[in-house]
Amino acid sequence: MKPTLNEILGTDYPIIQGAMANIASGAFAAASSNAGALGIIAAGGYRPEQLEEEIKIAKSLTDKPFGVNLMLMHPDMDQLADIVAREHIPFLTTGAGNPAKYMDQWKAAGCKVFPVVAAPVLARHLERSGADAIIAEGCESGGHVGEMGTMTLLPQVCDSVSIPVIAAGGIADHRQYLAAKALGACGVQLGTVLLTSEECPIHDNYKAALLKAKGTDTVVTGRIAGTPVRVLKNKMTREYIRQEKAGATREELEHFTLGSLRRAVFDGDTTEGSLMAGQTCGQLTKISRLSDIFHEIIYGKEPL
Ligand SMILES: Cc1cc2nc3c(=O)[nH]c(=O)nc-3n(C[C@H](O)[C@H](O)[C@H](O)COP(=O)(O)O)c2cc1C
Repeated sequence: MKPTLNEILGTDYPIIQGAMANIASGAFAAASSNAGALGIIAAGGYRPEQLEEEIKIAKSLTDKPFGVNLMLMHPDMDQLADIVAREHIPFLTTGAGNPAKYMDQWKAAGCKVFPVVAAPVLARHLERSGADAIIAEGCESGGHVGEMGTMTLLPQVCDSVSIPVIAAGGIADHRQYLAAKALGACGVQLGTVLLTSEECPIHDNYKAALLKAKGTDTVVTGRIAGTPVRVLKNKMTREYIRQEKAGATREELEHFTLGSLRRAVFDGDTTEGSLMAGQTCGQLTKISRLSDIFHEIIYGKEPL
């Protein structure tokens, strides 16, 4: 019999806390692991020495397993790859490319590698490169997105590979968890729904904007420049899209958004900041503890 995701991860719930650059710190990953899911430190916004520090913090706050997410286009990627191998991080999720170059190094260190994919053809390719599981992320999700929705992506990825598939994108309650299972996933990765957790270290203004948002209040910026990112609509996104349509170059757009995620996360700037969020923002009604969110997603609401 195939092992369950809980058996693979050593968790209580078949849930991975999705990486969120500048948000999913060592403390947040430890809180997710302590609440029964697999916590993930997002290395995307860190320099190598910061990642080392966040790993140290996570280790001091939990005895449970946690993982690290690596964005493969990170300028210090080789150094980050060395750190996670040296620290024997048991689970690595990867984004923005093919981790084949690091596979031997990570496997020798005992790391399991779960690439995030937005297209079935890439899943097949990564299985051949040695991936241990695939995280199939539909474009309902917050952050960087592909073209396919979870409903179409997930069964096609499941049919393409024989390793476990974890669903991401558009999952914020028990119904969506059951749908992901029905489509072939062995578990789920969550992002947006965790932004309004008590433990999430984003500014209160960001949380308030999420609680107010409807499902149609997100937009994908960067489709033309080839860097599509789903965020809450605000003054910044309107100006970004205006510049994009006017023919701004990728460099000009990158310059325009420089530091915008940090402005939202740390300064609570909801007009000029980049409030990354997925379409499940329309389902968020209250600030909840991580343990309650995870329990509700797997088991549903307690009957009244
Ligand atoms: C604010 C935010 C930041 C994110 N940053 C990253 C990241 O650094 N690396 C990554 O692989 N995925 C990132 N993601 C994607 C999440 O890990 C997760 O797969 C996604 O949010 C799941 O879809 P959902 O938002 O519909 O729950 C981010 C998502 C959000 C909402």
